[in-house]
Amino acid sequence: MRARVSVIGAGMVGGNCAQRLAERGHSDVVLLDIVEGLAQGKALDILESLPVVGSDADVVGTSSYDDVAGSDIVVVTSGIARKPGMSREDLVLTNMRIISDVCENVARVAPQSIVIVVTNPLDAMVQLALHTTGFARERVIGQSGILDTARLKAFIAMELGVSVTSVSANILGGHGNSMVALPRLATVGGVPLSELLPPERIDALVQRAVNGGAEIVGLLKTGSAYCAPSAAAVSMVDSIVLDRKDVLPCAVQLKGEYGMTDVVVGVPVKLGAAGVEQVYELALLEDEMAALQRSADAVRQTVAFMGFQ
Ligand code: NAI
Ligand code: 2OP
Repeated sequence: MRARVSVIGAGMVGGNCAQRLAERGHSDVVLLDIVEGLAQGKALDILESLPVVGSDADVVGTSSYDDVAGSDIVVVTSGIARKPGMSREDLVLTNMRIISDVCENVARVAPQSIVIVVTNPLDAMVQLALHTTGFARERVIGQSGILDTARLKAFIAMELGVSVTSVSANILGGHGNSMVALPRLATVGGVPLSELLPPERIDALVQRAVNGGAEIVGLLKTGSAYCAPSAAAVSMVDSIVLDRKDVLPCAVQLKGEYGMTDVVVGVPVKLGAAGVEQVYELALLEDEMAALQRSADAVRQTVAFMGFQ
């Protein structure tokens, strides 16, 4: 039987998530937006593409939470995106109203669902989603590190002329400028990156990854990235629906891990049918731990600004 995955927000990220999911074929997809006709139009367009790619998934576009009822997974992409010059934090006031409204509805119609949050500022929105739904931390997960590490892996692969599949990299912390890249742990086919590139090149690639979102915003001018973000969010759905137990960097609420409690930041987790099935603690050096704490403090500041705790 196919799973039921709802995508809230039929904009650039949501529409692309719905398309990628429908093409996978493992889930029926509900796409919801408040703009009348937007979700319905994109859903119909996606549905009409499925005979070409050979998927029998059902795809429904809607503005009603009745269609979201009973979803196994809800991917939340509703909210405004960054324009040039805006930080993710600039989005906070508008997006907190949207996330509160969406999560109240999700908790009402799909109380057993696993929620994947994409809306920015990401870590604070995960915290708000936890607060609003009342779900356990295992079932409220943010997409952050898969995108951030994908960017770093892409840049390393380009630099060295190797397959992206040979590159391994870790980024922890909040999905913002304070994210904590750990190039010390990056490898290419098992070989430490530090043996393949000089420190200044590694620093440059890390900086490009940290600024990856802003680089795309600067080029697009009318919105933010959506191809890589939708790929990242859908990889989380894959691991949960297929109970694949991939270990992926995701934003979760810490409960003592890394010496922190009740703050949401990106860390490696095992994703399976139950959602977050394990949180992994990397052995960090002193400066790496200090950077992670600074990143968590930045998330705490945004949450304090939102004032719901
Ligand atoms: P977009 O503007 O293309 O789409 C957002 C959609 O949300 C719009 O269609 C809008 O009508 C809808 N919406 C607004 N309020 C709603 C509500 N109450 N209920 C249902 N739908 C509602 O924006 P885009 O590019 O899709 O980005 C969406 C969000 O995802 C932004 O906050 C963006 O910053 C964030 N983002 C996060 C990433 C991450 O890695 N965590 C990566 C890329 C984007
Ligand atoms: C990004 O990193 C906008 O958060 C989004 O591209």
